[in-house]
Amino acid sequence: MAGPSPFPNEIKTSALELIGNTPLVALDRLHPGPGRILAKCEFMNPGASVKCRSSLYMIQRALERGDLKPGEPVIEVTSGNQGCGLAVVCAVLGHPLTVTMSKGNSVQRAIHMEALGAKCIRYPQIEGTYGNVTYADVSIPIEAAIDMAQETGAYFVQQLCNEDNMAAHYDTTGPEIWKQTGHRVDGFVAAVGTSGTFSGVSKYLKEQNPKVVCCAVEPNGSEPLKGCPIVKPQHLLQGSSYGIVPDLFKPYLMDESISVTDVETEHFKDLIGKKEGLYVGYTSGANVAAAVKLLNSGKLSRDAWVVTILCDSGLKYTPVRESLIN
Ligand SMILES: Cc1ncc(COP(=O)(O)O)c(C=O)c1O
Repeated sequence: MAGPSPFPNEIKTSALELIGNTPLVALDRLHPGPGRILAKCEFMNPGASVKCRSSLYMIQRALERGDLKPGEPVIEVTSGNQGCGLAVVCAVLGHPLTVTMSKGNSVQRAIHMEALGAKCIRYPQIEGTYGNVTYADVSIPIEAAIDMAQETGAYFVQQLCNEDNMAAHYDTTGPEIWKQTGHRVDGFVAAVGTSGTFSGVSKYLKEQNPKVVCCAVEPNGSEPLKGCPIVKPQHLLQGSSYGIVPDLFKPYLMDESISVTDVETEHFKDLIGKKEGLYVGYTSGANVAAAVKLLNSGKLSRDAWVVTILCDSGLKYTPVRESLIN
């Protein structure tokens, strides 16, 4: 039998240790200048999205507070990525997980969650179409999750108003970006769903350097952060931009909101693949489109560094058979 090795090993003790510490990659081929776009590869988390970080934080903190006891059931409403992140965390920690989701969100996410042992209940849309999910669509699974949590007593995560969601990014994503750039960030841009990512990262970066310009990304026609009425609730940015100002959004952290069209989103999603070899989802395309706009606007210096988020994997949006959607 092999005895203990004299050498240290690099074994991760569980999938939880695969969350965070994602690489920051320069998109120099897609955007040769002015300035530089630095993209945080959040699709490399084990749930293939940025939401793994908040999943781990919200569950760990609930356990620490005693709001959630070991082995107790968990419930959440999701556009899919929070569900996938929670499914990773709950599988490892042994919590039964039930998730409610609109049928408009990509079915691959439901398949992913269920492969990790979660139960995903999908609800028909009342306004949008598959891939275009509005707040009216999301309100159905929200109501269902509230009822289910009341009936079953399961721990209801409530990402939309859970401060630990923002804390995850203030404590991890922000400091990682600061370290990875050698303390040099001129701008940060991110799409806003719950605003956990945008608020947590922006707060941390502005505390290090108040001159960091922080921009939210909104789809044309659904720009409540800009203060505009919603004239086009349907857009490609699943998981973000529900036409509401989320509780975790702090107006004082936003210098500007940059609008992107669906055409721009698709164009840059495609370019990130073709020029950078990274297969990412729609909000990643929108984030990079907005970063290019910021750098081309002349508002920052010509050698500025703008950091953004590659939120999830393109594998979550591949075409699927009609029978899988309904
Ligand atoms: C693909 C994608 N991009 C962006 C976001 C927005 O992240 P946040 O909720 O931290 O604002 C989400 C949230 O679910 C998402 O799924």
